[in-house]
Amino acid sequence: MQIIRDIATLHRAVAALQQGGKSVALVPTMGALHDGHLSLVRMARRVADHAVVSIFVNPTQFGPNEDYAAYPRDEARDAARLVEEKTALLWAPDVAVMYPDGHRTHIEVAGLGADYCGAARPGHFDGVATVVAKLFNQVRPDIAIFGEKDWQQLAIIRRMARDLDFAVDILGAPIARDADGLALSSRNAYLSPEQRAAAAAFPAALKEAAAAIAGGAGVDTALAKAQADIIAGGFDSVHYVALADADSLERLAEYRRPARLLAAARIGKTRLIDNLAVE
Ligand code: PAF
Repeated sequence: MQIIRDIATLHRAVAALQQGGKSVALVPTMGALHDGHLSLVRMARRVADHAVVSIFVNPTQFGPNEDYAAYPRDEARDAARLVEEKTALLWAPDVAVMYPDGHRTHIEVAGLGADYCGAARPGHFDGVATVVAKLFNQVRPDIAIFGEKDWQQLAIIRRMARDLDFAVDILGAPIARDADGLALSSRNAYLSPEQRAAAAAFPAALKEAAAAIAGGAGVDTALAKAQADIIAGGFDSVHYVALADADSLERLAEYRRPARLLAAARIGKTRLIDNLAVE
């Protein structure tokens, strides 16, 4: 696996991978790779001839009081796991390559980033959209794969790629979960053993609410019960539990398809997100 840190070398290396009409699928990450990420890399290898992974802890998507400095970083371990997954190339730019002095442009996908996680993390999705657009221009992949765990992020990236005519197919990959249902996340590493055990209450409450809504229960009642169950399960606060149109992310007071249950809750200092299709 090649590890590349400058854009000119990256362009040459990706062009070489694409020679003869071969395809490249990009898996953008911030490192701290877990089995969920590796499932995206496996999917990249199934849908394209070559898998390219980027690791970049993007400062512009962290708020001033968030965990940018403390975000887990272990490139050597990540690279070893990517070699095992037969990744062709690791794109690992540093901050000065991604945001050279004087960088001033950013992308805002108006509206889609304002609610849900965007309400609690102002500017977060502008940082995500901007870095993903840059990654698309840097790597020039045929396909890009994002986990469905961050459904709002996926919807924003899909809209950004459509609006700006990026010639990249965006694929969503199903959420990878532990045996007790907790969605895999780099932030799970912050949980104490007690918090980790309690965290299973979060997906369980969402599963029950999704089944109730699909079965005809009132949306408000099902969402209120999910919120109460999450707190009863040991969480400190619930940022939101909402039923949303799966594409436009518009909040739904009544069930109609395609719908997605979106949620974020805090246990101790760790904020977890999750979502489920309601069908
Ligand atoms: O989901 C992530 O890990 C990040 O938001 C992404 C898409 C790599 C952009 O920094």
